[in-house]
Amino acid sequence: MRKKISILGAGKVGATTAQRLAYAEMCDILLWDRTEGMAKGMALDIKESSPLEGFDSEIEGTSDIKEIKNSEIIIMTAGAPRKEGQSRDDLLKTNAAIVKDLSMQIKRYSPDSKLIVLTNPLDAMVYLAKQVTGFPRERVMGMAGILDSARFRSFISDALKVSVESVNGMVLGGHGDFMVPLPKHSSVNGIPITSLLSSDEINKIVQRTRDGGAEIINLEKKSSAYYAPASSLVLMAESILKDKKMVLPCASYLNGEYGIKGIFMGVPVVLGEKGIEKVIELELTKHESDQLKESSAKVHALINRLKEL
Ligand code: LAC
Repeated sequence: MRKKISILGAGKVGATTAQRLAYAEMCDILLWDRTEGMAKGMALDIKESSPLEGFDSEIEGTSDIKEIKNSEIIIMTAGAPRKEGQSRDDLLKTNAAIVKDLSMQIKRYSPDSKLIVLTNPLDAMVYLAKQVTGFPRERVMGMAGILDSARFRSFISDALKVSVESVNGMVLGGHGDFMVPLPKHSSVNGIPITSLLSSDEINKIVQRTRDGGAEIINLEKKSSAYYAPASSLVLMAESILKDKKMVLPCASYLNGEYGIKGIFMGVPVVLGEKGIEKVIELELTKHESDQLKESSAKVHALINRLKEL
């Protein structure tokens, strides 16, 4: 029997993720949205492409949250997306209510699942999901670092005119304006980018990565990014379902790693069938570790605002 992934929220990220997972034939898919008929219609549309695309994954849509039962993985995309001029943090109040409610349903109907949160402001929403579900840290994680690193890698590849496949890049920290791209841990097939690009060029790429989400909104106006976020979610799901143990930057609850405790932040982790199987501690320079502290202070402040709601 194929394993089941439930996607909560049939917005652009949810729908794109559902489609990509179906094509990949890794699992059966349930797409949930509270708007009656919406997820059902989208799922049916994707299913009707199966003879053309050649996939046999089952895909169903529902507005009945009870149907998430027995999910191996639940992907939470529900919530208001960022609009032009808004920061991710502006969504705190609206999305906290949605994430809280859905987390209660997850705890009730699919208590053994692994939960991947995408809803912004990511680091606070994944914290809230952990609090409400009470799931162990292995089974609650946030998607952000993969997306931020993919942006970083694609800009490096553009600057050097080399294949993106040869570019490795790492971005740590919160998924906000204070995220921490790590040029020293980024390379082109092992060659550090610091020896291939000037510090000016690197600084520009770092800043563009930090502003990556806003750049898309400013261009698209009506939507925040969804193709690259969906690809990032699919990669996480693949590493878990196939127990690949990929090393990927994900938002993980920290228990003292990097000198940080009690919040979620983007760090490299090993993702396998148990979820986050290990948090990897990189050796950071003083500057990088100062930046990470600054980013963690922002996440702490956001979580404090969450507690005041
Ligand atoms: C972004 C949003 C999804 O970074 O946070 O595009």
